[in-house]
Formats: sequence, structure tokens, C-alpha cells
Amino acid sequence: MRQTQAKRIVLGLTGGIAAYKAAELARLLLKQGVEVQVAMTEAACHFITPATMQALTGRPVLVNQWDAITNGMAHIDTSRAADAIVVAPATADFISKLAHGLADDLLSTLCLARVCPLLVAPAMNKQMWAHAATQRNVVQLERDGVTILGPCSGVQACGEEGMGRMLEAEELALDIVAFLQGSKSLNGGSPTLTLPQGERGSIHKMDGVRILITAGPTYEAIDAVRGITNRSSGKMGYAVARAALELGAQVTLVSGPTALPKPQGAQVVDVTSAAEMFEAVKQHVAGAGIFIGVAAVADYRIAQPSTQKIKKSADKLTLELLPNPDILAYVANLPKPPFCVGFAAESENLHGHAKTKRKAKNIPLLVANLAQQAIGSDENELILFDDTGEHVLPRADKLTLARQLMQHIVMLRTNIKT
Ligand code: PMT
Repeated sequence: MRQTQAKRIVLGLTGGIAAYKAAELARLLLKQGVEVQVAMTEAACHFITPATMQALTGRPVLVNQWDAITNGMAHIDTSRAADAIVVAPATADFISKLAHGLADDLLSTLCLARVCPLLVAPAMNKQMWAHAATQRNVVQLERDGVTILGPCSGVQACGEEGMGRMLEAEELALDIVAFLQGSKSLNGGSPTLTLPQGERGSIHKMDGVRILITAGPTYEAIDAVRGITNRSSGKMGYAVARAALELGAQVTLVSGPTALPKPQGAQVVDVTSAAEMFEAVKQHVAGAGIFIGVAAVADYRIAQPSTQKIKKSADKLTLELLPNPDILAYVANLPKPPFCVGFAAESENLHGHAKTKRKAKNIPLLVANLAQQAIGSDENELILFDDTGEHVLPRADKLTLARQLMQHIVMLRTNIKT
């Protein structure tokens, strides 16, 4: 087993137009300290040249099965040295090969001979993605322990719009780094998953479900240049949006000011203040099956914000604050409310405050986290409070937790319906 701290992946490219995104993906991974060895199929070389990938990674690109590395066993050697193989883009054809255990070129042979986890980022036309054969193959891969990243919905190279578009490089890099951090037995034994095997076989569990999510902080203006806000980064809410998209949901994300890339496939409504967030939620809540309030909404706003910069003086300055509307309580008390999920960040007495909040807000599920651990960080630890009691989601990266939370929501909604 390799002893170095740095993670190493094999980045496999197959022949799709999304191959151009692999160049940026390689760059982002390298920037985060991940060593990248590129392997390309012959078809991939028609979309992006090995020279580009070699120049970016500083390593010769593997294309030909018959090129010797050390002992002519490139398919064995390369996968042994890797913490994971990531195929991005993965065409319908390549996914089919993987599902059937075919090994007729270097990349497919590498995948079959691997002892490390395999992650696959599908990229194809929407009809190819929706085809029963592709869906069967994807489910088979998940049963085999392969992690599927995406795809998402959007405008495709063919001009059509729909599901099948490869995730953006930024999103894939986030996923891959999170996966590498979360994997416990990297580079050894059977593939390690961030989710229990089969859980993501439910890619259609939320097909057609509209989910409205709030995320990030709000900013309440004091004057033209100053305001009251908090340290929420939006990472938890954006991860929840990603996890919901992965399950096929139609996601509207009402986001306070953050520095995060927008989740591909979500309708993002940017807002600044709590009042704007409230208006956006009111506007988009009709037809939503689920509402998840992850945002750290300011409880108060300035009664009379100044349109000009307030000038410094020797006098005492008193700001009058007015309470903001409670967005979650509004949604939960609609005549036909969606399934409502609230979050609570507490600095002490997490259990006590969370239980009180769930009752006060009249919601089926409340997600509690410790403010000092949760705000701004990449990792978190959650306790879910529902009618059956509490469920701890141990410390992990936020996307992993968001996926587990979405599975819990799926389960609760199924129980309500049956
Ligand atoms: O963004 P990150 O850096 O990733 O951090 C994530 C987080 C810590 C912000 C997130 O996990 C979290 O806990 N969010 C809720 C923060 C909070 O404590 O909210 P609250 O206790 O003020 O409100 C409880 C619930 O009511 C929340 O779902 C909130 O969105 C909602 N609320 C609150 C006030 C208000 N006026 N309107 C609301 O909808």
C-alpha cells in the first residue's frame, strides 16, 4: 500500500464532447493536491488531445493498452497506485462496457483490474441517458459499488435540453475531493463508498418532486455600505441542493450571498435580505413537495436603514431592530404545506433547543448542528429529530451528510404516504 499522504487518482476520459471539461477538472484536482494520472480511450482523443492532458498533469497520458510502463502490466500497475479511478466523461457506451465487465481497451481493462473505488460521471444526450438500457447499466454499476456523479439537467451539445449533461468541473472536483477525504480504506481491498451500496441506486427516487431550499446567510443593511450578517457560507444548503438534484428532484435554491458556484441543474434565486428571501420563498413555494430551510436567516433587520453612508461622530449611535418574518413557520403553516425540514444551529444545549424548535415550528423533521462546528466548515455532524426520535449522522463532509439527509427524507415521506 502507498504510504504518502497525497491522494492519487486515475482520470479516465472517454469519447464525448464533455471531454473538454476534463482539462479543467484535472487542473482543479491538481490545485487541491491530488495527483492525476490520465488514461484516455481512442475516442476521447478525438475530442481533446493527450498532449493537453499531459501538459496539464505533467505525466504521460495512457492510451494504448500495449504501451509498457514497467513490466507491460499497465492495467495492473496503474490501478494499484491509485486511490480511485474517476471516469469523466463516461459515455453510454463506456458505462455499458463497465456494467458488463468488458475490457477491450486500456481504460476499461484498468477499471476491471482495479482494487480501488470507481467513480463515474455520465455525459450523454438526454435520450441516451433515459434509455432503459443505460438506466439498467447505471443501476448495475451502483449495485457493483460504483459511485455515480451526476449527471445533471441542462442545455446539451446537440442543442436539446434535459438530463444527461456532465456535472461542471468545479462540482466534480468538490465531489472527488470529498470522496477521497471520506474514503476510509483507500487503495486497498474492495471499493469504498461514501454511501452504503445501492443507496444511490435510487437515482429516480425524487423524480418530478419539486424541492424548495433556502441556503446561506442574509444581509440586513444598516446603511449604504454596512450591514448585519452571519458566518454561514451556504455550503450545507448547496450540498443539500446537490443531493436533491442527484435524486432527480427539481430544485429551486433561494440563496443569500455566498461565494459558491451554483449547483448545475438547480434554479437559483439570489437574494440579499431576509425580506427578499421571504418574498422569493412565497413566490416559489406553490407546487413544492418539500421545503428545506438551511439558511441562517437574520432574526432582526434595521428599522430604518440609511441610503447614504452614516458619518462617524462622537455621539452614541443606537440602531433600532425589528423582527424578521419567520419563513419556515410561514411555509409550515400554509393550508397545504410541503414536507417541511428545518435546521437549527445551536451553540449549547443542542438537543433541548432543537426539540423545542421542532415543536415551535410545527415541522416533521428538524436537523440540528453545533454552530461552532457547522458554520463555514467543510464538514459537519447532524442530529435529525423526527416523530420516531433522533438519528445521528456522524461527522463527514457536507455532501455526504446531505445525501444521507435526503435518504432520510425519502424514507419519512414514503412512511407518511403508506
Ligand atoms: O452555510 P454553512 O456555513 O454551511 O452553515 C450551515 C448552517 C450552520 C447555517 C446550517 O447547517 C444551519 O444550521 N442553518 C440554520 C441556522 C439557524 O440556526 O437557524 P435558526 O435557528 O435561526 O432557524 C431555525 C430554522 O428556521 C432554520 O431552518 C431557518 O432557516 C429558519 N428560519 C429562521 C428565521 C427566519 N426568520 N426564517 C426562517 O425560515
